[in-house]
Amino acid sequence: MVDGGPIGVFDSGIGGVSIARKIRELLPAEDILYVADTRYAPYGDKSDQYILERSFVVTDFLLSRNVKAVVVACNTATTTCITSLRARYSVPFIGVEPGIKPAVLNSRSGVIGILATQKTLVTDSFAELAHRVSGNVRVEIMACPDFVAQIESLKLNYHEAVGLVEQYVRPLLAKGADTIVLGCTHYVHLAPVIASVAGPDVLIVSTEAAVAKEVQRRLEDIGPELNKSRVGGVEFWSNGPLEYFQKQIHHLWGPQAIIQQF
Ligand code: DGL
Repeated sequence: MVDGGPIGVFDSGIGGVSIARKIRELLPAEDILYVADTRYAPYGDKSDQYILERSFVVTDFLLSRNVKAVVVACNTATTTCITSLRARYSVPFIGVEPGIKPAVLNSRSGVIGILATQKTLVTDSFAELAHRVSGNVRVEIMACPDFVAQIESLKLNYHEAVGLVEQYVRPLLAKGADTIVLGCTHYVHLAPVIASVAGPDVLIVSTEAAVAKEVQRRLEDIGPELNKSRVGGVEFWSNGPLEYFQKQIHHLWGPQAIIQQF
């Protein structure tokens, strides 16, 4: 991996921590700078303009900290504005999109379900992706407007989340979905509850591992490897209340995590 700065990772909140975790597993020598745009979350019910402006502000901040690549660890921001980000900045951007393709390849029933934010599901890039890869498989979509608040408040265990999860997952099962795509990085934190509600015959698809691989590939393109014996640092930055952010990150990452205000 190239030296010369951390990998920048951002999301509206703690969703992208699911992506940062996989990057850390695959590329432990890399420094990671994670930004949660907490004060402006959620993105999933906002306009294109709002999400674009926030993505510019956060990217400017990441570049001021010398990141060598930016991971848009948010399906909503990726589907809304990664093209504009790539046009404006010269640093490589790696985005995250719902894993429709692996879901289509897995489905035996011919029906897949996509859980995502309202915004992701109405973007042209989502429609284009679904059209391009779905073939004969039917794609059933389900916006989950209450999931992000539930996840941000760390109500992640079965008893806390099962009622809400059933509300969104049961209708997809009733339509015959045998594969469910987590089309929002936040939802990965609820994956065990979603899997319990869906049952053992339903595959849950998410893309963190594929995104981490893509980060690895892109970094290989831009320079030589970092010393493998190095252990990279990880910092988590938020513009929301810091004490609460610390609680969130300690819960998801561990008590050694470094927390900063931006
Ligand atoms: N985690 C984000 C995503 O992947 C955004 C959720 C939100 O802010 O609404 O879509």
